[in-house]
Amino acid sequence: MLPLSAICLLLSAAQVRGIAPAQDATYDYIVVGGGAAGLVVGDRLSEAGHSVLLVERGPVSSGRWIPDAATAQMPFDNWRPEWLRGTNLTRFDVPGLAQYFWSSQANITCVDQPENPAACVLGGSTAVNSALWWRPPAKDFDDNGYPEGWNSVDMRDAIERAFTRMPATDRPSPDGTLYSPEGYNLVSAALAKAGWTNVTANQTPDEKNRTFSYANYHYRFGYRNGPMDTYLQTASARSNFALWTDTDVRRVVRDGGRVTGIEIEGTGRVVNVTSGTGRVVLSAGYFGTPKILLRSGIGPEDQLKVVAGSPTDGATFIKQAQWLPLPVGKNLKDHQVTDFQISHPSVKNYDWSNSIWANPVKSDLDQYLQNRSGMLAGPPNNHGPTRTNADFEKVAWETLEGSLFSDGTPRQIQWTTRIQNPGPPNNLLTLTSFVGRGSSTVGSLAINSNMTMSYADIPYFQTEDDRKAAVISGERMIAALKVNPEITFVKPAPDQTVADYVNSVPTNVVSRRGLHLMGTARMGTNNNNEAVVDSDAKVYGTENLFVVDASILPGMVTANPTGAIFSVAEKAVERILKLSSRG
Ligand SMILES: Cc1cc2nc3c(=O)[nH]c(=O)nc-3n(C[C@H](O)[C@H](O)[C@H](O)COP(=O)(O)OP(=O)(O)OC[C@H]3O[C@@H](n4cnc5c(N)ncnc54)[C@H](O)[C@@H]3O)c2cc1C
Ligand SMILES: *[C@@H]1O[C@H](CO)[C@@H](O)[C@H](O)[C@H]1NC(C)=O
Ligand SMILES: *[C@@H]1O[C@H](CO)[C@@H](O)[C@H](O)[C@H]1NC(C)=O
Ligand SMILES: *[C@@H]1O[C@H](CO)[C@@H](O)[C@H](O)[C@H]1NC(C)=O
Ligand SMILES: *[C@@H]1O[C@H](CO)[C@@H](O)[C@H](O)[C@H]1NC(C)=O
Ligand SMILES: *[C@@H]1O[C@H](CO)[C@@H](O)[C@H](O)[C@H]1NC(C)=O
Ligand SMILES: *[C@@H]1O[C@H](CO)[C@@H](O)[C@H](O)[C@H]1NC(C)=O
Ligand SMILES: *[C@@H]1O[C@H](CO)[C@@H](O)[C@H](O)[C@H]1NC(C)=O
Repeated sequence: MLPLSAICLLLSAAQVRGIAPAQDATYDYIVVGGGAAGLVVGDRLSEAGHSVLLVERGPVSSGRWIPDAATAQMPFDNWRPEWLRGTNLTRFDVPGLAQYFWSSQANITCVDQPENPAACVLGGSTAVNSALWWRPPAKDFDDNGYPEGWNSVDMRDAIERAFTRMPATDRPSPDGTLYSPEGYNLVSAALAKAGWTNVTANQTPDEKNRTFSYANYHYRFGYRNGPMDTYLQTASARSNFALWTDTDVRRVVRDGGRVTGIEIEGTGRVVNVTSGTGRVVLSAGYFGTPKILLRSGIGPEDQLKVVAGSPTDGATFIKQAQWLPLPVGKNLKDHQVTDFQISHPSVKNYDWSNSIWANPVKSDLDQYLQNRSGMLAGPPNNHGPTRTNADFEKVAWETLEGSLFSDGTPRQIQWTTRIQNPGPPNNLLTLTSFVGRGSSTVGSLAINSNMTMSYADIPYFQTEDDRKAAVISGERMIAALKVNPEITFVKPAPDQTVADYVNSVPTNVVSRRGLHLMGTARMGTNNNNEAVVDSDAKVYGTENLFVVDASILPGMVTANPTGAIFSVAEKAVERILKLSSRG
């Protein structure tokens, strides 16, 4: 752990004015969670002049927030490789180190959801993700179960704000070169020949049917450049913004529909919001937020009973008369994934996952350290479809029309590719299909009596329609790739049908997850008690409790979700600020 003295040093550093709050300090807004959405919310609320306390459970990640990072001891040993010593960077800042997440997750992932590798550090999963950054297409709002006020026309300015703050690039290396383009070249050439259209995805976000693109990222200047380098920078320059890291919020303190403050795990300390007008915004992510809601007496009765009967919370849990029965944890969505695989002599592996830490390629390292350019300035790999292990890059999208499915709902497919693990024959390319918008709920979250969160109702591909979407998209992709006779098909094997192959892949989480979970505190009209928050992101039945993060997105999106999550956060803040101060 970061020694306490280092935390105090951090919080009194010039950039971060907020000190751990004084005993009696109150705040207009307390934002819980410093991830994708929370950093947007904290910045925009403080920009509007309100006093804001942002409470993040994890440690600092980016070197930007570690005072004297070049010489300081890191919070944990796995925060930076030797070759970054003397710089102001950690693993979280260097694009090429993203893949190392799959080799070393200690003290990064959240201990209370062991099934899922989300990051509980400052920045949330944006500290470790692949920085794929897509402007959401109109249909992600218009055809996805949002209430009035959240259509694509309503979202336009919010999306613009997010993409102005964090611009997208398809040239991650500042020298403008595309490194290691073999995978992109192979697949895109075949798709072009098969009649798919070459687009620059973020210029034409609505063209998502038989299109392909270079991948778009929010990398900049050779750095990750996520919300910690943008939103948090402006927020922390304001005297009315305070950040408290290494602090786990246990629950909100509430009396009926009125929330008076938050309670910190461990110490039991309470921090109040401004009396009468203050508000709490939960931005703790798709499982962190439901957990806090459940521990605050908000959720399905069976789940609240687990909390009420738990050794940790039972004795002090809010009285049953005050429970609010909302569908917290339901409607868990994810991209549902199937890996296909081909091989081709042009595909060359690069060892992103292991030697990158201890022994990176010398010329690539020199190029990064001297010029912040080259292989390490981009994701593993830079662009287009080349990647080891479990990170992804975009190739293509296809929209399958509703008439193909018994429920009449179109299914949106996204294709990404990656180079397979190191080792002979080193020329395998995996193509991953994500069944997205239009697909079914995969399950719900459940709280255990030890306050861990687990999945219920998983496996993936529970409906025949979703399975069919994976089969049809696979058949079409393979047909397209067959224009190149040099491509060898590995999965499915040449003598196996696509349907047989898709059905042979296990439907468990590890084999089929997209790492894009959402929907567990969904926004909506509450006619059938199917939503948790209203169109102002306010929790039903409360006066001043809000949720702004991936949990409120009602339906799965087209592409990797942060573009949509940041846009939703921008919009939600705009609406929250317009609400009258009481209620
Ligand atoms: C390995 C990986 C790769 C990914 N790649 C991409 C990609 O390339 N592009 C893309 O668009 N998406 C990607 N994603 C998904 C994306 O990162 C997430 O969807 C997004 O970060 C979710 O945003 P959020 O604000 O809802 O939650 P998070 O970003 O997870 O933030 C939640 C924050 O709340 C904090 N918190 C939780 N509980 C508490 C508590 N009780 N008290 C205080 N703080 C708390 C957490 O520590 C965390 O910092 C990836 C995800 C992973 C795991
Ligand atoms: C928070 O407010 C409550 C009243 O709502 C009060 O009893 C309590 O002392 C306050 N706590 C702090 C730490 O200010
Ligand atoms: C590191 O320092 C350089 C030069 O001062 C600066 O431009 C860059 O933004 C810093 N990066 C981080 C992640 O702090
Ligand atoms: C993770 O944290 C624990 C507890 O502080 C520490 O003992 C361990 O060395 C850390 N692991 C790494 C890889 O840094
Ligand atoms: C697609 O368009 C981009 C940008 O114009 C171009 O660089 C790339 O080579 C094109 N790809 C194919 C396969 O034509
Ligand atoms: C860094 O950039 C300069 C200027 O383009 C170039 O001369 C030098 O070779 C680069 N260094 C490395 C290690 O690539
Ligand atoms: C996608 O494009 C294909 C080929 O042009 C077309 O047949 C199909 O109807 C389109 N899908 C949708 C949902 O428009
Ligand atoms: C918590 O409880 C769940 C469900 O009973 C169990 O699977 C898990 O191992 C427990 N975790 C810990 C850390 O005790």
